[in-house]
Amino acid sequence: MTVTELGRADGAHGEVALRRRTAEDGATHLELVVDGVFAMDDVDTSTEQALATQALARCPGDGLRVLVGGLGLGWTAATALADPRVAAVDVAELQGPLVEWAGRGLLPALPSGDERLTLHVTDVADHLAASAGRHDAVLLDVDNGPAFLVHEANAGLYSEAGLATAVAALRPGGVLAIWSSDPAPELADRLTGLPDVVDVEHLVLPVERDGRRYDYAIVLARRTGAPA
Ligand SMILES: C[S@@+](CC[C@H](N)C(=O)[O-])C[C@H]1O[C@@H](n2cnc3c(N)ncnc32)[C@H](O)[C@@H]1O
Repeated sequence: MTVTELGRADGAHGEVALRRRTAEDGATHLELVVDGVFAMDDVDTSTEQALATQALARCPGDGLRVLVGGLGLGWTAATALADPRVAAVDVAELQGPLVEWAGRGLLPALPSGDERLTLHVTDVADHLAASAGRHDAVLLDVDNGPAFLVHEANAGLYSEAGLATAVAALRPGGVLAIWSSDPAPELADRLTGLPDVVDVEHLVLPVERDGRRYDYAIVLARRTGAPA
């Protein structure tokens, strides 16, 4: 296998690197490493896509506004854009270089020239705090899960206060969805205990990689109230 570095940058939030792996048989895959921690590759992006499809399946109507926390390789955002009912996708991404690489077409999953897409270089926690009542769906995939953080500072996102801020960023009836590399029943319980939250679900999504089974998970919750 050969590894080609497509981008590497060091910034306020540590190092970010985008690499292409080429196997002996010529198959290629992209991988993203954030602050020395493997964040993801594109060997199987079914659960990153499911983060969008599962949340949007629970959002009636059209003209939907979606916030994606964490650009990564762009699969969740691209899947949201593939839904014609979606009017706007805002992506909050901490790593400026990654957003720049997306602009240069280095993330092939992301459609180019889709005017519904806006990439923001920001901490998603700040974006959520400034977005009260704005979104029909908030899709969070900024860590390998609440129990395996890429940045320690992200712990606050999964606290009761952080989750309440994410719920408050939803319109009435909107849906919060959080990706995790492991089942996260405690996260589901914490959401269930919050005011203004109903319909908490914990989906376990098995994925086979290299002959091993991984149980990824998506936790969903709805803000109370009827959609407008
Ligand atoms: C696992 S990747 C997201 C994968 C994405 N769902 C996809 O489909 O490709 C996590 C991303 O979240 C970003 N990130 C981590 N902490 C963040 C934060 N607090 N605010 C915004 N982005 C963050 C990382 O830089 C990385 O790009």
